[in-house]
Amino acid sequence: MAKRNLLSVNDFSKPEVLHIIEWAKRIKKNPNAYATALKDKTLLMLFEKPSLRTRLSFEVGMTQLGGHAIFYSIKDSPLGKKESISDTARTASRYVDIIMARTFAHSDLEELAKHADVPVINALSNFAHPCQILCDLMTIQEKGKSIEKIKLAYFGDCNNNVTHDLMYAAGVVGFEIAVCCPPEEQFEPQRKVFDDVTELCSKNGGKLVVTGDVKEAAKGADVVYTDSWMSYHIPESEKEARVKALLPYQVNSKVMGMAKKDAVFMNCLPAMRGFEQTAEVIDGPQSIVFDQAENRLHIQKAIMLYLLGKKD
Ligand code: CP
Ligand code: NVA
Repeated sequence: MAKRNLLSVNDFSKPEVLHIIEWAKRIKKNPNAYATALKDKTLLMLFEKPSLRTRLSFEVGMTQLGGHAIFYSIKDSPLGKKESISDTARTASRYVDIIMARTFAHSDLEELAKHADVPVINALSNFAHPCQILCDLMTIQEKGKSIEKIKLAYFGDCNNNVTHDLMYAAGVVGFEIAVCCPPEEQFEPQRKVFDDVTELCSKNGGKLVVTGDVKEAAKGADVVYTDSWMSYHIPESEKEARVKALLPYQVNSKVMGMAKKDAVFMNCLPAMRGFEQTAEVIDGPQSIVFDQAENRLHIQKAIMLYLLGKKD
């Protein structure tokens, strides 16, 4: 198979998404069966921003598959100073089998993917977070919900990597998504995503609503999702104004009460109690945030196996 990358959820077709999720579930059930699946393979992990889950799950995942992972902080590298992204990609491809990178600019990831001879995985750019969303779909399925039939309601900052890939997932898989934010460009999903997802939904049977009306978004939702108001790339100086603007979109018990009775609450984490959700919600019975976090491990393994052309 030609080299494939995962830069955004819509790099995969619906059958590929479903296949990777099923694979991850089999790995989760029987991890020992995959103990040598990536023996002698090396993953390069390039980080320009902090991480807990992504770093740990990729590194532990690679170890459990019999391979090796190298953590490389971009601030310790010549990249962007003495060395171009393309030279970095071409050099790294001579040593490692697969690369994952967490960057600010999405265009840096595209450049890396263009020049690397090995698969490149987006481990979070300002624009997208595909590994997170594949994991989220797996987690939703595990809670007994059919991902083709759900309504997912997202609240808060929608000009956001996680929101963008949740929207792409709705378009690729074909489910209903309502994203709810202040009616201001800085909080709204990027136009390109809106247009792409509108087209995907008309092909695949999904539905996209962008609204400022919390009730409209929450009504009938199977999944209530929120993410940080202060993403890694947002300057601290914007905090006060953002909190003020986003507070009406906080997920609290009232919002959960507008969704279906059996709705689950999700947050990719890290989370701030009292900001994008209340403690009552994230620490309450409907919250599945730590199952989400765990599933990062299983899905990363399936993503790497798939991109390395392994057969289950
Ligand atoms: N959800 C997620 O990607 O978390 P980290 O920033 O800790 O990797
Ligand atoms: N939107 C968040 C996601 C963190 C996993 C951020 O970019 O910081």
